[in-house]
Amino acid sequence: MAQILIVDDDHQLRQSFERLLSAEGYTVRTASTGEAGVEMVRESLPDLVVMDVRMPGLSGLEAFAAMREIEPRLPVIIMTAHGTTETAIEATRMGAFDYVLKPFDIPDILKLIEKGLSAGRFMRSKVEMDAPAEGGEGEAIVGGGPAMQEVYKAIGRAAPTDATVLIRGESGTGKELVARAVYQYSSRAGKPFLVINCVAIPETLLESELFGYERGAFTGASGRKVGKIEQANRGTVFLDEIGDMPVSIQAKLLRLLQEKHVERLGGAGPIPVDVRIIAATNRDLEQAVAKGAFREDLYYRLKVVTMTLPPLRERREDIPLLAKHFLCRFSREAGVPDPGLTPQALDFLTGHDWPGNVRELANVLQKNLIFNRGGPITADDLQQAAGVTPQAAAAGTATPALEAGGDGSAQEFLRRFVRGELVAARDDEGAFESLMDRFGAVVIAEALAMTGGNRTRAARLLGLSRPTLLARIEKYGLKIETSVTSQLGATDPDSPGR
Ligand SMILES: Nc1ncnc2c1ncn2[C@@H]1O[C@H](COP(=O)(O)OP(=O)(O)OP(=O)(O)O)[C@@H](O)[C@H]1O
Ligand SMILES: [Mg+2]
Repeated sequence: MAQILIVDDDHQLRQSFERLLSAEGYTVRTASTGEAGVEMVRESLPDLVVMDVRMPGLSGLEAFAAMREIEPRLPVIIMTAHGTTETAIEATRMGAFDYVLKPFDIPDILKLIEKGLSAGRFMRSKVEMDAPAEGGEGEAIVGGGPAMQEVYKAIGRAAPTDATVLIRGESGTGKELVARAVYQYSSRAGKPFLVINCVAIPETLLESELFGYERGAFTGASGRKVGKIEQANRGTVFLDEIGDMPVSIQAKLLRLLQEKHVERLGGAGPIPVDVRIIAATNRDLEQAVAKGAFREDLYYRLKVVTMTLPPLRERREDIPLLAKHFLCRFSREAGVPDPGLTPQALDFLTGHDWPGNVRELANVLQKNLIFNRGGPITADDLQQAAGVTPQAAAAGTATPALEAGGDGSAQEFLRRFVRGELVAARDDEGAFESLMDRFGAVVIAEALAMTGGNRTRAARLLGLSRPTLLARIEKYGLKIETSVTSQLGATDPDSPGR
């Protein structure tokens, strides 16, 4: 369970955070001064810190600097009010995870906290090679076949150097996992690791996200922004989906690799930075170069150290081990016994082509675990997870009433669906949507029950983003009430009368 430290001199804000975050399943500690906050970090490291910038005594910035001395990888979110944003920006330049302006909306801060936590996990949870981390907290790159042995060797060779690394492979083959391993086995393992996904960020924002800008650099640039590359100084930056990086930004990246400096948009000049770049793509870069979508000079610069991850269908020998690894991990996360697989199920898994590679294999096993009601997973179960059989829709006579009968579980719902009871029960417009909603509600309720109401874990179990899960919970009326107002930090900490 993630532990969050709140540092703020405002008693009310600390209390609201405590209520809100405990309801979300986090463990919360609070400190009312910067000094106390630093002490708490020294005593026992939290997973994330949310800290006010303006406090009596040690300021947020000073406290941040002290925490950074203790653990440079600790994600710290700085809270700031209008008028003190420059200090918060300074904090990001020093490596703070991000800053928020008070007052802020609860969904926004929760999203940012979730992002910060996953960035922290990314840096600290150890990626083991060729050894399923049984019971351990870390993750593992599983696979002992010759193809993966080559990958391990390449990681071992390249990690300790500061060389730029290019990781290639189809979607779901483990590129991100390998990037983390390279980082963790490098001499920069104790320093920050920042991930930028070149597709997830709109083209217009990517440049400023990476390189930052000065006030007035373009219309709407009211403040200054420190780019991620500068923020990761002395650390490592992972540029995911680099094959999709717009050509205009590729030029700036090339300059960074050659000259080791960045220039903010509208900036006065180059700022020296010391970052190691790891890049990944599932694109055919040679083809992109031929089409003019990828700069040839950057391509040659990147490909010096290349690691290519084979698709799963070309290393089937690893499938049994991977399946065992995922079942063990997911059942432990869900707190249920590991059901195991029948020999036929294992044959099905090894024979399948897995266009979505390891990610798809993991998803199929996770779904089967959710529906499992004891007994090993069979080949039939796996086939069903791949798609509902065509007979299901055609079969069945009417036993109406969606809600009547059964135990209301996902399993029962599925059984009745396969018998055709649910489809036969309605023929109105929107029947499909309402059936899907009903099914979604049952599945989410089950996931929540399995995780004791922990929405973060339920989201992970279902492979949904947390915001998506929250939206569904609301839509289906499954909402669990929390007794907090919708905004935090709305009061001015310096106003009299409090
Ligand atoms: N060899 C492996 N052992 C264990 N887990 C793996 C392995 N390869 C991939 N995974 C898991 O599969 C999922 C997908 O892997 P990852 O995100 O690294 O793929 P990717 O190559 O970056 O895919 P994409 O191109 O879609 O971003 C992750 O949950 C990862 O932990
Ligand atoms: Mg990826």
